[in-house]
Amino acid sequence: MKINLLNSNAAEIETECLVAVVLDRAEARADGRRETDKPQAYVATGDKTVQEVAADVISSGEVTGKNLESTLLHRPAKLKAKRLLLLGGGKAKKFSPVDLRKIAGAAVRSLKSKGVRNFAVLLPDSSLSAADAAKAVVEGAFIGIFDSDTYKSDRKKQSIDSLTVFAKGDHSQLQKAVDEARIIGESLNFTRQLVNEPSNRMTPTVLADHSKKMSQEVGLKCEVYGADKIKELKMGAFWGVAQGSDEPPALIVMTYEPSGAPAKPVLGLVGKGITFDTGGISIKPSEGMEKMKYDMAGGATMIGVMRAIALLKPKVKVIGIVCATENMPSGKAQKPGDIQTAMSGKTIEIINTDAEGRLVLADGLCYARQLGCTHLIDAATLTGAVVVALGYANVGVFANDDAFYESFAKTSTKAGENMWRLPVNDEYLDMTRSSIADLMNTGGRWGGASTAAAFLREFAEETPWLHLDIAGTAWMEEQKPWIAKGPSGVALRSLIEFARNFGNS
Ligand code: BES
Ligand code: MN
Ligand code: ZN
Repeated sequence: MKINLLNSNAAEIETECLVAVVLDRAEARADGRRETDKPQAYVATGDKTVQEVAADVISSGEVTGKNLESTLLHRPAKLKAKRLLLLGGGKAKKFSPVDLRKIAGAAVRSLKSKGVRNFAVLLPDSSLSAADAAKAVVEGAFIGIFDSDTYKSDRKKQSIDSLTVFAKGDHSQLQKAVDEARIIGESLNFTRQLVNEPSNRMTPTVLADHSKKMSQEVGLKCEVYGADKIKELKMGAFWGVAQGSDEPPALIVMTYEPSGAPAKPVLGLVGKGITFDTGGISIKPSEGMEKMKYDMAGGATMIGVMRAIALLKPKVKVIGIVCATENMPSGKAQKPGDIQTAMSGKTIEIINTDAEGRLVLADGLCYARQLGCTHLIDAATLTGAVVVALGYANVGVFANDDAFYESFAKTSTKAGENMWRLPVNDEYLDMTRSSIADLMNTGGRWGGASTAAAFLREFAEETPWLHLDIAGTAWMEEQKPWIAKGPSGVALRSLIEFARNFGNS
């Protein structure tokens, strides 16, 4: 998708569709009652011609400006555009980049399905700066353009070729915002493509090959290690999972170290890369098991984040580590009751082979520390329990350091991604103590997201650490107007923004 930036008269542009945002300026009643006055919709643009064209449909009351309300006018008089699409953005006072991102995504999806190939968006007049608005539109458009129907033989080849953003303001500043948003949007969809692939086409080796190819393209250092190195590093927890599969595991290490970056801090991003999770000997029920191809979403997220970082070039060292393997039952697979020795030296009694994510991450976190990371963030589709706690609406966040958490939370809020902190105190660790070894890999029936986090915390040790459990959020169970069903790319935008500012604060 080509992105153009234009500052001219909107009426003059020849496009298949001009998109404008409709907001509602009605305010809540002064007496504090919940009902609001009648909607007072208006097109949020200073462009008089566009306002004139939309005047009739707005005064008819058919357009109220409510969120994602969509009205398409054909051959709008006085405009060179073939269509005018009015999209609602809700209450003007509450209008945010989140709304604008959704509007752009919804515009892409509805126009794409109609066979439209190019369109233009009028940046709305609102409290957002032009640069923030342009960024939201471009990111939203990339979110919307992704579809997961890769292997449908009648898949529509046709897609949106170009998007023109109309904006008034400092051109070079706007161009910078658009360029950055493209990097973020393309990285997001790179991750989503990796996650969407089925496990027969996305083995640990294939995931590693994608990482290498991407790294070469953007100038990252990328090393991929196999079973020999995993054993040599004494990653007994990682290997315990990998030993059951005929597919070779991959330890993927991507390093971003720009010249002039200070020696410290070093941000370590560790991703769970289970390319298929059968549960192993503690095998999962077959119903819904097909979804376990997305158990490498945390790893794919870190690969996408590293891509964006390499292109956005913050002055800080970042290391991305992905522990990739299948979790399979076989004659070579680990069994409940087995004891594994992790890289850190801690011993682990395997209670349930389906709790494999924490095993591979334990060694990933330990290795990140050995490589000199001073701060750690992991992302993983780790537990069904986090889905019970937070549903599909929030990423579960765990931290061993309040200040580190606070600075990340600021960024994720700004990025508009819903995340919620869950506890990881010592009581949860007590639930994972084994009578024969240091730890068990499960913590009993209750508080499963927190016991998993407490287990991981043992391997982050004293290093400031955040754990993102994305089991409920990495996959959209149903499509929304602005996003397809399938991989969501959650956490990526927050992590990219966080890495960009990391070390500056
Ligand atoms: N990959 C799963 C977690 C998961 C569940 C991801 C649902 C996405 C959707 C993980 O490896 C797992 O199986 N966890 C177990 C842990 C249990 C055995 C302690 C779980 O949550 O049931
Ligand atoms: Mn599992
Ligand atoms: Zn898993």
